[in-house]
Amino acid sequence: MRVAMIGSGYVGLVSGACFADFGHVVACIDKDPAKIAALERGEIPIYEPGLSELVAKNMREGRLTFATDLTEAVRGADAVFIAVGTPSRRGDGHADLSYVYQAAREIAAVMDGYTVVVTKSTVPVGTGDEVERILRETRPGANFAVVSNPEFLREGAAISDFKRPDRIVIGTDDPRAREVMAEIYRPLYLNQAPLLFTGRRTAEVIKYAGNAFLATKITFINEIADLCEQVGADVQEVARGIGLDNRIGAKFLHAGPGFGGSCFPKDTLALIKTAQDAGTPVRIVETVAAVNDQRKRAMARKVIAACGGTVRGKTVAVLGLTFKPNTDDMREAPSLSIITALQDVGASVKAYDPEGMTQAKTLLDGVTYCTDAYACVEGADALVIVTEWDAFRALDLDRVKRLLKTPVVVDLRNIYRPEDMTKRGFTYVGVGRGRAP
Ligand code: UGA
Repeated sequence: MRVAMIGSGYVGLVSGACFADFGHVVACIDKDPAKIAALERGEIPIYEPGLSELVAKNMREGRLTFATDLTEAVRGADAVFIAVGTPSRRGDGHADLSYVYQAAREIAAVMDGYTVVVTKSTVPVGTGDEVERILRETRPGANFAVVSNPEFLREGAAISDFKRPDRIVIGTDDPRAREVMAEIYRPLYLNQAPLLFTGRRTAEVIKYAGNAFLATKITFINEIADLCEQVGADVQEVARGIGLDNRIGAKFLHAGPGFGGSCFPKDTLALIKTAQDAGTPVRIVETVAAVNDQRKRAMARKVIAACGGTVRGKTVAVLGLTFKPNTDDMREAPSLSIITALQDVGASVKAYDPEGMTQAKTLLDGVTYCTDAYACVEGADALVIVTEWDAFRALDLDRVKRLLKTPVVVDLRNIYRPEDMTKRGFTYVGVGRGRAP
């Protein structure tokens, strides 16, 4: 199959490289000439484990190419994927679809023969209809189908999520488009991944409902964590105790500083807006978004309490800045709210992150960035673990204790055990690990 991928950002690049790895011939397109030139040199603009090797291999074997102009790629394509950004629109929280519609207009101008146009970008319900209208209006006689094929890739695990998905959702009523999509994903369903064919609008709703449900699960366990702290229970054990019930499931029950990233905050907001416009507000999701926002600030209060009620004039060492490990992505990262709130009340902040410091420097003022975890904790009045990078899971704790001015550790990801830490002489605070009175 010949595939054109419009947009070589996170989703486009991962999907394009994986499709090429299946044996399809893929052209990844992006308007940014600097990005395309870098990709052609084998430089990957994002940090994603395994991606640069996968891109290099498929370029070498001639199945993956890059270009700024979509004409040639779209003309020869069996399927054209739209994988451009859909950021939150300033002011109203709706998804900004201008890049999607612009891509649709450009595809329409050059498509040739029967073409399956697939929206992979996360788009509100009804966007597929609008893309179809644009294509029809621009090219009244053209032969095409518009399909919704949402992605479920987690940053940091995107390649394995793509190659070993729980399911593939394909929204279209067009039998010929189904055949093309089934052929494109054939290597996966041979591996037992269920191919779920639905209507187009249904597929669009599945994407938002899935992310909103996961965000709800996290927010639920975060509130249970707060309760556990007050009543002397352990949220980790509660999560295990409820997660073993298959109806609930064990995943996405890790209490922490609140969800961040480029998807959950934006997608919950977009779903809230869509539902309000439809006259059927999703009140649970509205509450989830509000509770999560408050939580990030509440984490700074937790640090202040652990430091004896004030951080004025004190130095706080922050380990982990990205919204989660194995990414350099700082979007909506809890560290941003926590650090700003600590600085606002007079703390000096030192920080270290294995991949996130370049982005962090553009977002946070007045932070001292360190070269490693130990340089970060040296001389600090407290250590706060905000992101659970593997590198922080096995710190030399005796060294950490010697380097800290006062041995206070606030572990917002519960990567250490309270009893171990207390035994070593730390004042240790986790999330949702209350002590029985
Ligand atoms: C999320 C979804 O997991 C993907 O399925 C989806 O495709 C993607 O959004 C998207 O819409 O593109 P991602 O944002 O990369 O992926 O990251 P997650 O691993 O889902 O984590 C999101 C946030 O939730 C992080 O801040 C993480 O720390 C937090 N989280 C996650 C928790 O606090 N507890 C958990 O148990 C799980």
